[in-house]
Amino acid sequence: MEETHITWHDHSISREQREALNGHRGCVVWFTGLSGCGKSTVANVVDQKLHVRGIRTFVLDGDNVRHGLNASPQILAPLGAAYAERFGLGFSAEDRQENIRRVGAVTELFAASGLVTLVAFVSPYRADRESVRGRIEAARAGDFVEVFVDTPLEICEARDPKGLYKKARAGEIKGMTGIDDPYETPENPEVHLLSGEQTPDELADQVIAQLESSGIITEKSTS
Ligand code: ADX
Repeated sequence: MEETHITWHDHSISREQREALNGHRGCVVWFTGLSGCGKSTVANVVDQKLHVRGIRTFVLDGDNVRHGLNASPQILAPLGAAYAERFGLGFSAEDRQENIRRVGAVTELFAASGLVTLVAFVSPYRADRESVRGRIEAARAGDFVEVFVDTPLEICEARDPKGLYKKARAGEIKGMTGIDDPYETPENPEVHLLSGEQTPDELADQVIAQLESSGIITEKSTS
């Protein structure tokens, strides 16, 4: 490989020191599923429930990250057409791969900073999710918790909070996940939420139970 002339600097405060200060481990909780399946909703309920327990958390949401770090060519247009074309991300398989690679790199930093990092991206391709898992688990095994938010397409489509399914059915949007673009279901997720049948509160509790049983956070005191 060509010499890059970039070197890694070790931090003066270790990850273990940060985690000792927080009283819990940093990790990545990766919610994946169709648009409208409830990823963001459940991630935000987990966020609230952990926050009140004094656990340091942050939610990275696809819709929000696509306004900044992973902005579209349209958002980047003021920086020039060539720039927007080069760095802007849409929804092709390659752009989704880059979307997940970038946010995956952010999760590496957040987990190393000691945060319980909650990530809600459609992330339809197994290889992209597994690639993030590989990098997170290389730092420490058990730190990547995949949560499959398994809501039937019919329910997502009936909810259609952004009207995108309707547009996709009308042919106004091409490449909508679940309609004319693939969603590759997780094969072995740490948490499988059958989310059409339960409330966000119940679903969040299942995620938290997994974080407790795997020792990422300690069990809530009942006293
Ligand atoms: S991902 O596939 O690259 O992981 P991401 O989670 O960032 O997607 O963004 C998904 C959101 O973008 C959806 O919730 C929806 O609001 C919007 N969106 C716009 N076009 C599409 C599309 N073609 N497929 C899926 N979601 C889309």
